[in-house]
Amino acid sequence: MSANEKRQAGEAAIRYVENGAIVGVGTGSTVAFFIDALADLKDRIEGAVSSSEQSTAQLKRLGIPVLDLNATGPLNLYVDGADECDTHKRLIKGGGAALTREKIIAEASAKFVCIIDSSKQVQLLGKFPLPIEVIPMARSLVGREIVKRGGNPVWRDGVVTDNGNWVIDVHGWQIADPMALEKDLNQIPGVVAVGLFARRPADVVLVGDRVM
Ligand code: 5RP
Repeated sequence: MSANEKRQAGEAAIRYVENGAIVGVGTGSTVAFFIDALADLKDRIEGAVSSSEQSTAQLKRLGIPVLDLNATGPLNLYVDGADECDTHKRLIKGGGAALTREKIIAEASAKFVCIIDSSKQVQLLGKFPLPIEVIPMARSLVGREIVKRGGNPVWRDGVVTDNGNWVIDVHGWQIADPMALEKDLNQIPGVVAVGLFARRPADVVLVGDRVM
């Protein structure tokens, strides 16, 4: 993992921000560099839609207005990091437990610019444990369903998401068909969101300051 590449990626994403924009903002240490750079443009943008309490706090601290997605409608741009990225720009996300709101904003955005360091690039998704946000009472049920599918579910004990839910991290999956797995897991009652971004992958991936 390279903090320098994360900074480069966060700063490079600024070139996608247009005057007057409302920018969708993800969560994590790479996005924190993007928010810092966005603050320099704050007089040129209308504001941001935030994917987490963590990003909201940073945005507000730097004087960037935080807007409600219900009020803004569709966005032109979403900038977020990832835990893994394959050659088709499909992602695993949710290491920071913000996957559900991240997925909502990605879906609402015309362009998703993903910012990563080179350690996140993979041929096959799944070495990074796949995060799944679940309704608390469904934790065991979802865990059993994952075991049936050959995964090893580990409860991220002590973590409560911004939505009041829990996270299961699935170890041991080599994800050959991310789209099919995402669809399958989404059918399990109690699953709020799956940290696979295959149906809605990134549009642009910046690895440091280089377009992938
Ligand atoms: C948060 C995420 C993050 O984008 C992902 O965990 C990458 O984080 P970082 O930029 O700190 O490596 O999905 O839920």
